[in-house]
Amino acid sequence: MGDSINFDVVVVGSCNLDLVSTTTHLPLPGETLRTIAYAEHAGGKGLNQAVACARMGARTAFIGCVGNDSTGTMLRELLNSEGIDTSQLVTVDAPTGRAFITVDALGENTIVIVAGANAHVGNSAITVPKSKVLLAQLEIPLDIVTQVFAQAQNAITVLNPAPAAQLSTELLSLCDVAVPNETESAALGGTQFLLGAGVATIVTTLGERGAEISDNTSTVAVTPYPVNAIDTVGAGDAFVGALCAELARGETIEHAARIASVAGALATTIHGAVPSLPTRAAVMSLYAD
Ligand code: RIB
Repeated sequence: MGDSINFDVVVVGSCNLDLVSTTTHLPLPGETLRTIAYAEHAGGKGLNQAVACARMGARTAFIGCVGNDSTGTMLRELLNSEGIDTSQLVTVDAPTGRAFITVDALGENTIVIVAGANAHVGNSAITVPKSKVLLAQLEIPLDIVTQVFAQAQNAITVLNPAPAAQLSTELLSLCDVAVPNETESAALGGTQFLLGAGVATIVTTLGERGAEISDNTSTVAVTPYPVNAIDTVGAGDAFVGALCAELARGETIEHAARIASVAGALATTIHGAVPSLPTRAAVMSLYAD
């Protein structure tokens, strides 16, 4: 690959099969519910965000693991069909990751993940190719996220700290941009803590209230794009993928976040994570500069 940059965004992360039940409400402790609808989709925060980047026009590579099973083959084919480089998608001797998702009538969701093959990311050596943006989440081993960010060279490192976990000072010091939601931000100690730990910019997603960009000098609000949400699964991934694709285009963080806000909102209007991820043409047709 030499010294040239072949990718806009390299994503290191998880891929899952999403088993999605739609119910009237989210189950209470001890409650058994009947589904209104059931569907299976490609998913995983890593895969979703890679697809989101590719649909936003970014040359994208995905680094991760699938199991040696038909689901793993399906996910690999899906990534290839989106034009995503899978030369470092490793097939391992474990079941492909799964996510058990419940979506209620208001579009809210709960997710339980089974790591499976995702727990093996980093068992074979990873060589991070040069890119403009390097993106990771926390559905793979945390020490591997730290290792790949340490290889970032001049790429902008973006961490979507989901699901929330205790993060080392080393990993935080390697993050240029963190994109938590409100719950994750609180679990990580809040914006001021993250800034103090060396993260240069925090983009906090606020759901239907938009987002907020904070650095050591200011906080800027990103207004939401109004939609009728029916399913919030994958909306955060659409936001993060679009943000990274726009940063790779050289946009400012504020402009990138405003475009990402439209992408995230659009993703809530269609069921499923991957099916809901918008193209750049769709996003930009609604984006008012
Ligand atoms: O962010 C949504 C994703 O979280 C789902 O696709 C599921 O697989 C979990 O990783």
